Amino acid sequence: MDNMTNRTNEKTKTMNFSFNESSMNEFRRWEKKFPEDPAGRRSLVIPALWISQWQHGYISRDVINYVAEITQTEPLHVWGVATFYTLFKKEKTGKFLLQFCTNITCSLMGGDQVFVNTCKKLGVKAGETTRDGMFTAVEVECLGACGESPTLQVNEKYYTHMTDDEVEKLVADLRKMA
Ligand code: FES
Repeated sequence: MDNMTNRTNEKTKTMNFSFNESSMNEFRRWEKKFPEDPAGRRSLVIPALWISQWQHGYISRDVINYVAEITQTEPLHVWGVATFYTLFKKEKTGKFLLQFCTNITCSLMGGDQVFVNTCKKLGVKAGETTRDGMFTAVEVECLGACGESPTLQVNEKYYTHMTDDEVEKLVADLRKMA
């Protein structure tokens, strides 16, 4: 173990977030793809944030500090990257984040009503999480799948041509999976 790794391990001990074994293995796999210079370390910020989100569910302040440590960058830089990309969640959500596109095409195809009806069925308002912590329902801008609208993104997966019935069935299936 080199000095840099030792120093990083010492600092990260004080944080409330660190990679588990499988996340660390994934991070090491990404590390091999980039040069060991400062530019290479900065390029690791995005994969490190993804791995953190898979493990932790969202990008907390501790995640920001941890990613800055393991990539030898500044927390401010990591925060800038995390806030630039809407795919990184800055707040805790339910186990399944339901992102309903209500932009123009999806809206014309009934997507905004599907969103409203789903919120009603789940007993939440826009942006809220169900009491069991399973589902958070939010409206988002165009997901880039207008040709198959209305589009719904659940965590990283897309579902298209969504109707009230389709969403209800999907929610029931996700409950069973959880
Ligand atoms: S408008 Fe909904 S995916 Fe583009």
